[in-house]
Amino acid sequence: MSETVIEIDGVDSGYGEVQVLFDLSMQLQRDEILCLIGPNGAGKSTVLKTVFGMLSPWTGSITYHGDEIGGMAPEDIVREGIGFVPQTDNVFGSLTIDENLRMGGVARNDDLKPVLSELYDRFPLLEEKRTEKARHLSGGQRQILALARALVMEPDVLLIDEPSAGLAPNTADEVFADVQKVNDMGAAIMMVEQNAVKGLDISDRGCVLDQGTVRFENDADALLDNDEVTELYLGG
Ligand SMILES: Nc1ncnc2c1ncn2[C@@H]1O[C@H](COP(=O)(O)OP(=O)(O)OP(=O)(O)O)[C@@H](O)[C@H]1O
Ligand SMILES: [Mg+2]
Repeated sequence: MSETVIEIDGVDSGYGEVQVLFDLSMQLQRDEILCLIGPNGAGKSTVLKTVFGMLSPWTGSITYHGDEIGGMAPEDIVREGIGFVPQTDNVFGSLTIDENLRMGGVARNDDLKPVLSELYDRFPLLEEKRTEKARHLSGGQRQILALARALVMEPDVLLIDEPSAGLAPNTADEVFADVQKVNDMGAAIMMVEQNAVKGLDISDRGCVLDQGTVRFENDADALLDNDEVTELYLGG
């Protein structure tokens, strides 16, 4: 039996007077990776920002384990168990890897040692470089640090915006493997990906967003096999 962790129901959202999401509905199930794909400007990042409380829904509801979270502040949403890895500016270049991870845990008031040591075990690359400044990391390493930073809060949902943006294919694959690892550790993931085929490849389900609304929603395999989706959204 699948269990809905996040339910977005009939949400309108946008910036100031500009409406970007129109009557948007989708669900994130426990244990799954859900991939949001769609053209530039479709509203994919806006979905993540609205779930994470950086934007308030104009209408409709967003529930997390059945409780309304629409309009809550990001710092409260983080404490509820939802993490967000933005596409850009997701690490502090002037801080060390260790300091970045500790910043990820500022909302916790317990000892960070056990969670940091577990993260260093899982991401040995970060342990190796723990005293280096994050600005010395490669693009892929930064993306892994950004993921790990969100994991310090031990979220059960992670929202990730374009983890492979700007990365060479091999590096993107490494980051995708780590996204899967995070999912295997027990977090449900809602991931936006420009690289739709690869994104769907590692996902359980996918949603195609266009002009602020869901056009297709299905198992990832079914979307990859769908001629219309392929032609319109997967580059033929
Ligand atoms: N801060 C903002 N203020 C006003 N309009 C914005 C803002 N951010 C995004 N928009 C507009 O909202 C619409 C959707 O943007 P959004 O960033 O959600 O799209 P996206 O699907 O993530 O696109 P991309 O693939 O380019 O990242 C676009 O028309 C964009 O111009
Ligand atoms: Mg975006």
